[in-house]
Amino acid sequence: MHDKTRLIRAGALPQPLVKTVGPPIQRGSTVLMPNAEALYDHDQVTYGRQGLAAQAALQDALAAMEHAVGVTLYPSGLAALTGALLALLKSGDELLVVDNIYAPTRRFCDHVLKRYGVSVRYFDPQLPPEQLVDGASEATRLILMESPGSLTLEMQDMRRVAELARQRKILTACDNTWGAGYLYQPLRQGIDLSIQALTKYVGGHSDVFMGSAAARDPALVRKLNDGVLHLGWAVSPDDAYQMLRGLRTLPARLERQGLNSLEVADWLAAQPEVAAIYHPALPSFPDHELWKRDFTGTASLFTFALQPGPEAAVNAFLDALKLFGLGFSWGGFESLAISVDPQLKQRRFKRAYPGPLVRLHVGLEEPKDLIEDLRQALDVYRSALP
Ligand SMILES: Cc1ncc(COP(=O)(O)O)c(C=O)c1O
Repeated sequence: MHDKTRLIRAGALPQPLVKTVGPPIQRGSTVLMPNAEALYDHDQVTYGRQGLAAQAALQDALAAMEHAVGVTLYPSGLAALTGALLALLKSGDELLVVDNIYAPTRRFCDHVLKRYGVSVRYFDPQLPPEQLVDGASEATRLILMESPGSLTLEMQDMRRVAELARQRKILTACDNTWGAGYLYQPLRQGIDLSIQALTKYVGGHSDVFMGSAAARDPALVRKLNDGVLHLGWAVSPDDAYQMLRGLRTLPARLERQGLNSLEVADWLAAQPEVAAIYHPALPSFPDHELWKRDFTGTASLFTFALQPGPEAAVNAFLDALKLFGLGFSWGGFESLAISVDPQLKQRRFKRAYPGPLVRLHVGLEEPKDLIEDLRQALDVYRSALP
């Protein structure tokens, strides 16, 4: 053979790979089929976009964690939410969405779903499940919840919502990013779809985007997979490998970060500059009993209200923080803070809080160092008050 041809064929691995702890990272658009008949066998992986070894390993591991029959992967958490909605809804359907939903999900509902003839109605997170489901119309196809909400942490009795919705053949879905598919396992409580931004706790290192939708009903799993197939979305094997690596240490990180967040929250609750704490694992939290019933542990994302003060003082507090980064994400090993109030403007069901809200994500640092950082920033807040 000519050197050109030898170069193209050389190095192709003829024998099976040795076994390693993690899956092989197969990079490939082209999949070489064993024979002509297999080319059109739709039960086989025939193209790299369907996912290769690393993606399949991640799907298996997530399915085991979430007690799912199948897990569909998406290139981001937001794509998991939008992709699942696109796969399950059609023109003429109605979608009920909790008012404290992640803001970009709301943006998609308002700007895209409505354009495709899906009507969207928001409901108060504190609406009792009976009233919520009674208020559904003949056209209601899906109820989308997020509990706890990722800014103000309200919870819903999703188990009861699912029980009632099932009687009316309405699907239920939740953004389970706070529960990470580990602390909370909605599929075991009758919720049809558990969707999460793996970008947060599962990835755990603030360096990779991905989302997942897990379901138990094989027909639903197929619809979600078909949705991704139709849209042409794919996740890279390198990202899937990273995600699986994160998943291995998820329980240990969540346990440590949850405890750290409680230490910080307990301390904050005793500070004169703090008016209220919204942390599901604190007995003072209004939905604490629901959290205790449904969750096996706590995540490390919570919000607190400062004593009343102007926006400039809140910004002075945030700017004074040295260990907490200012950033919109969460779930990584590092602590983060944001002001919350600018994001509450679009809500339909406004709630009065005793002061401006700050959201903290507590990481793996030593809590005493974080507390010291918060103490000096609260001093700055106090001195910035008029
Ligand atoms: C509750 C929640 N859901 C979904 C997402 C979206 O995840 P991603 O950034 O991977 O699109 C986020 C991101 O902040 C989130 O906080």
